[in-house]
Amino acid sequence: MDLTNIKGVGPEKAKKLMNAGYSTVESIAFSSPRDLSMDSGIPEETARQIIASAKIIVRSKENTKGGKLVEILSGKDAKKILNSMEHITTGLKGLDNILGGGVETCAVTEFYGPAKAGKTQICHQLCVTVQLPKEKGGLEAPALYIDTERTVKYDHIKSVAERFGLDPDLASDNVFYAYAMNSEALFDMVHKSLDEVVQNRGIKLVVVDCLTGHFRAEYCGRESLPLRQQKMNRVIHDLLRIAVSHDLAVVVTNQVHSQPDLYGKSENPIGGHTVAHGVTFRLGLSTRKHNMRVATVVDAPALPPKETYFAITAKGLIDITAKDLSSKEPIEFSEAKEIEEKAEKVEEEEAVLD
Ligand SMILES: Nc1ncnc2c1ncn2[C@@H]1O[C@H](COP(=O)(O)OP(=O)(O)OP(=O)(O)O)[C@@H](O)[C@H]1O
Ligand SMILES: [Mg+2]
Repeated sequence: MDLTNIKGVGPEKAKKLMNAGYSTVESIAFSSPRDLSMDSGIPEETARQIIASAKIIVRSKENTKGGKLVEILSGKDAKKILNSMEHITTGLKGLDNILGGGVETCAVTEFYGPAKAGKTQICHQLCVTVQLPKEKGGLEAPALYIDTERTVKYDHIKSVAERFGLDPDLASDNVFYAYAMNSEALFDMVHKSLDEVVQNRGIKLVVVDCLTGHFRAEYCGRESLPLRQQKMNRVIHDLLRIAVSHDLAVVVTNQVHSQPDLYGKSENPIGGHTVAHGVTFRLGLSTRKHNMRVATVVDAPALPPKETYFAITAKGLIDITAKDLSSKEPIEFSEAKEIEEKAEKVEEEEAVLD
């Protein structure tokens, strides 16, 4: 929709807003007067009026779930909206279960862990599963992969697509790609381009792999920490705003750093409180022998801390049981029926952590 449809926005202001990255009515409706003013140079009071007019347009649209801009809802309406979030299957029964049904829309889900933990592999799999029909746990929609590490492998996406019964070429074509070379590129991409891209392409999954790597490398030393946190905070804030205003799921990956403690050392996610408070769901991944991995829900609004097990294979991630973790050999991909049987076992043995 043309921004000049917003009351109080003429061609000149529309240009200023576009140049500042506010290319959709939603992006304006969901911003704060202060941010809009600082980014576009439009006085704060005018920005407030523009936001109010944009909200009226968004409210009149029927199709936003998380993005409804009603300030105070009755409990009944709130329940209806908050319970209407959709989930994207991870393709793993165990992981879907501990996530309450899969990766949720209108939220930011973080997977953190050391190198080789399987973060990128999960992102690849989700780019495929989001395309599955709804009855199979997908949203029948394309994905956008924002890559900061150049680790996306389209051949692997094709193999995973084949396993899930999708046309490998079509499925891989439906994974849009953006390479963010440094933190500034990532910041600009999320702040200025993402809104329009997800709207125009009907994207329902945005992956940022990795959210923190560039910030960690570029902002060294204590003195640059406040600026780093401020920039990262803005990226996470924008991602959540986009997730809510477009009813889509955002998945980010994060690295860890080692910290000495009483028991030797622990591995903590990068980004401190900024990332911890900014994301909605937080899962930790850790490596085990061979291709076996463990995923744990560390923080989630209404989910208990649980763990589950999976293995990395050429056809994507597969469920494994706790017993498999002590296998002397890597766990191989098995055909559909065996996977189904294994998934049932996984469901039975689900362990609730203290
Ligand atoms: N076909 C396969 N079979 C078994 N294991 C595989 C296969 N392909 C990749 N892997 C394993 O997956 C791991 C890499 O996983 P992934 O790239 O998801 O890690 P990551 O958590 O993203 O790490 P980083 O922090 O380095 O980005 C490696 O240990 C690799 O050996
Ligand atoms: Mg990776």
